[in-house]
Amino acid sequence: MSTSLEYDAVPYEDCPFTEAHPDYLSVIGRLFGLAAAPPDNCRVLELGCANGGNLIPMAYYWPGSTYVGVDLSEKQAAEGMRLIRELELENITIIQNDILALDASLGKFDYIIAHGIYSWVPADVQEHLVGLCRQLLSPNGIAYISYNTLPGWRLRLPIREMMLYHSRHATSPQEKLDQSIVMLHMLAKGIPESSSLSEKWLKKEVTNLLSRSPNYLLHDYLAQNNSPVYFHEFMERVAKHQLQYLGDADLYTMLGSALSKEAEAELDKFDDFIEYEQYLDFFYVRYFRTSLLCHDRVELTRDLEVDKLRDWYFYSQLKSRDEIDLYSTELQVFVDQSGASFDISHPLTKAAVVDLAYIYPNSRSWPDLLQRARTILEEVESTYADANANELLSELFNLYLSQGLRLSTVKRTFADNYAGKPRANKLARVYARHSKCCVASAHHASLRLDPMEQYLLGLLNGENTFGAIQQAIEHKLEHDREFHQRVINQGISESMINNALQSTIEQTLYHFAGHGLLEP
Ligand SMILES: C[S@@+](CC[C@H](N)C(=O)[O-])C[C@H]1O[C@@H](n2cnc3c(N)ncnc32)[C@H](O)[C@@H]1O
Repeated sequence: MSTSLEYDAVPYEDCPFTEAHPDYLSVIGRLFGLAAAPPDNCRVLELGCANGGNLIPMAYYWPGSTYVGVDLSEKQAAEGMRLIRELELENITIIQNDILALDASLGKFDYIIAHGIYSWVPADVQEHLVGLCRQLLSPNGIAYISYNTLPGWRLRLPIREMMLYHSRHATSPQEKLDQSIVMLHMLAKGIPESSSLSEKWLKKEVTNLLSRSPNYLLHDYLAQNNSPVYFHEFMERVAKHQLQYLGDADLYTMLGSALSKEAEAELDKFDDFIEYEQYLDFFYVRYFRTSLLCHDRVELTRDLEVDKLRDWYFYSQLKSRDEIDLYSTELQVFVDQSGASFDISHPLTKAAVVDLAYIYPNSRSWPDLLQRARTILEEVESTYADANANELLSELFNLYLSQGLRLSTVKRTFADNYAGKPRANKLARVYARHSKCCVASAHHASLRLDPMEQYLLGLLNGENTFGAIQQAIEHKLEHDREFHQRVINQGISESMINNALQSTIEQTLYHFAGHGLLEP
């Protein structure tokens, strides 16, 4: 772990983590037979919450639940509390304290989140952290603990050691960081162009690290403590505290779906879940885990029942680059926002996915989605309009497992009309005003803000017409040279500024609405 001093000197850029949200975790819990608390009425604790970049958006978008964050860094806890006061949130507090000092007096929690902390703290803090999960989790609670794991991190350790060696005389966190970046550049230039696998790997890793935020380098790679652990070892430690493995927040990583038939056959020999997943880690050279835990007395099921989806809500942004074939079960490729691709074959599923993308960020219940999909097929006179609903359900389930589609146990509604005088929600405006690196979408995704988006959010206070917004941006671009340059650097050309500013603003508004940042 970086020391508290390092976090005070160079605060962590903390962003929302979709997979650490109770809305997301409750679905996994219920799939495995745990009666997880509803995300709109639960108690959440985050250990090592930094400035509250993950926790504050939860409190903002889900006002019916209560949240407690704890962080050792005085500066970060104070910054989090300043934001909470500015947002006038009464359902969240951030306490400056050491995990080691926490005990049962905090009360019980339905969800405990410890993201990016376990591997970076000394052994006594690790032990206490897991013990706290046991002590503070409500009977059906879920703990989320992420950590660096082996064998993957074994490959990364040499780069960390080279940077630590090069920065060994540094007298401040900033100098340690600067010297480490010098080392990375030396490596980038110095690694010989040869066909050696290790040199190729090193070059790739160094290039990747140079593209990451300096913040990540200091607090992750260079942290004083960085002790990756094998999954099976982690589970042994957890079992001592009467906790058991619920699953991984990245559900698809539990499935080994990218393995060859031979490897699958080998792994099928393991009845034990932990052993099976440990071997998966060997095969995938996994380096990071997001383990979910619950009390060991809870009886879990490992047979996932697709019928559970009938009670939940579906949302997805999948789109196809090709014309959608609603007349055959011909496989068609859909892609998500990050470019990941998903195969869909049944016309009912294709129609359902088209509908979900159209209404995103809103969701549909199972009966509504089925009806909409049938209606779409009827309108185009596809013979699949009356097809068996189970085909749709199981294809949607597979999409969920591979993260092409999300599920929620709660119905939420977002504005889709931003004509007139658009207004962004307060969270987005406050985060933009303080130049935060990212803002949380309504579905807890992390949205990086470029300079144009940041400035535009400040104008979306419900008092400016589209024309007034455009004028304000033109004025800013004309009179603020630094802003102008930053906008050019972000990839908006002079000709776009002069000829296509209106459509750039329209697209940005569409983007904000698509992530639930605008209010009716
Ligand atoms: C790498 S950051 C992760 C922050 C955030 N959870 C995230 O993932 O974005 C680790 C955080 O844990 C805090 N921390 C480290 N040791 C701690 C301790 N013993 N008690 C409480 N917080 C601690 C640090 O101040 C820092 O904010």
